Amino acid sequence: MPLSTIILAAGQGTRMRSRLPKVLHELGGKPLLGHVVETAMSLDGGTIHVVYGHVGKQVRDVLSHCPVSWVEQAEQLGTGHAVAQALPGIPDQDTVLVLYGDVPLIRSETLQHLQEAAGPDTVALLTAHLEHPRGYGRILRDEQGHVVGIVEEKDASTQQRLISEINTGFLAANSGRLKHWLEGLDNSNAKGEYYLTDIIARAAADGVTIQTIAPGSEEEIHGINDRIQLADQERRYQRRQAEHFMKEGVTLIDPGRFDLRGSLEVGRDVIIDVNVVLEGDVYLGDGVALGPNTVIRNTHIEEGAMILSHCHIDGAIIGAGARVGPFARIRPETELATEAQVGNFVEIKKTKVGKGSKINHLSYVGDTTVGSKVNIGAGTITCNYDGANKHHTIIGDGAFIGSDTQLVAPVEVGAGATIGAGSTITKDAPPNELTLSRVPQTTRNGWKRPQKKK
Ligand code: UD1
Ligand code: CA
Repeated sequence: MPLSTIILAAGQGTRMRSRLPKVLHELGGKPLLGHVVETAMSLDGGTIHVVYGHVGKQVRDVLSHCPVSWVEQAEQLGTGHAVAQALPGIPDQDTVLVLYGDVPLIRSETLQHLQEAAGPDTVALLTAHLEHPRGYGRILRDEQGHVVGIVEEKDASTQQRLISEINTGFLAANSGRLKHWLEGLDNSNAKGEYYLTDIIARAAADGVTIQTIAPGSEEEIHGINDRIQLADQERRYQRRQAEHFMKEGVTLIDPGRFDLRGSLEVGRDVIIDVNVVLEGDVYLGDGVALGPNTVIRNTHIEEGAMILSHCHIDGAIIGAGARVGPFARIRPETELATEAQVGNFVEIKKTKVGKGSKINHLSYVGDTTVGSKVNIGAGTITCNYDGANKHHTIIGDGAFIGSDTQLVAPVEVGAGATIGAGSTITKDAPPNELTLSRVPQTTRNGWKRPQKKK
């Protein structure tokens, strides 16, 4: 049966106490709804319909890149009403899968089980047995154990509240039949809403089988209503990712302090120390080691490179065997070649550093091309900005830049050149020569420090 998916995302999310719609709060750096859409896309299905509410524009803007069909539910009259808004766009023979924008960790395999179990004469319902079922709808079964309905907690009797089997909300059903069951719904219940759950009793009355399916793990069904649950799901999500990468051969010194907010590709024998935050698209080649307390975003790090503690690296390519940090900041469009070294308190921006070159202490290098085997001394600054425009600096192979040098761009230091420490270089320095712009040192013999007047 062809599959169509409906994701309910119209609720206000009052308990988040936020200006941001609930489904746009992020888990692992991605909006909650983005996770659900991605999982839906992983199924072999047709259109994904997202039902959005009054803050819809914001939701649509953030997820405008998602290939989904947007359905407005102007007033939130209940889950049954929400599903009914999307159904006119779904052919009768399809299987409809209902998902939730605020339940982000549902797994693709679980949804596949639901989809496979559903058919023209079977509704598939994801249920779970919970030690603390409070707040959930309860599954009602007859004496033979067949599901005959769902009662919401607010409408349940004391006896019914003792039932530990709960409705997760996820279900799969035939589109044509779902339309029929939803048409007959009323809202005479505790919340005055059109409940999607009421279709179960109708289906059962029509002789349709209600097939229950269990989730692979309990975390899959947890919805997010407030920031405590959001933080809790964030840790579960990170744990899931951490375990995935440990199975791929990554050593995580503490999987409880692993944070990936994006996508990661790894080689073998990567070691990641504690409190490393990875964002965007990150690649770590064979044997890469990341020291503690480091942020790496949209960066490609080749094999054997070592990032020592407390670094911030964004939009860079770090070559094989390179060494960065501790306390280095690498900004976008920086490329370090093989075995380059960037040390403590060094900032590098939009710069290519050649093979084996070293910038080890307290420097700013921006808009620069550094050749290979260059040594840039402590405290070297490229003055790349004149207040209006950025200018380029070129440093040739094998050059040696003395400490505390300012290179006023645009300027070129030739290959093999030496710049004397403390120089301000405003004109090109020829290759293989010593260039310096230092005031000659003098000594005043017999000079005395001033004394305090009595
Ligand atoms: C619902 C189920 C309950 C189940 C629980 C699991 C119903 C009537 N009850 O209860 O059996 O145990 O989920 O979490 O379905 N939504 C809309 N439009 C609406 C109403 C809701 O899009 O008009 C969305 C909400 O944004 C939310 C989801 O549907 O993501 C569930 O709605 P909510 O009102 O939270 O239902 P529950 O009371 O949690
Ligand atoms: Ca809810």
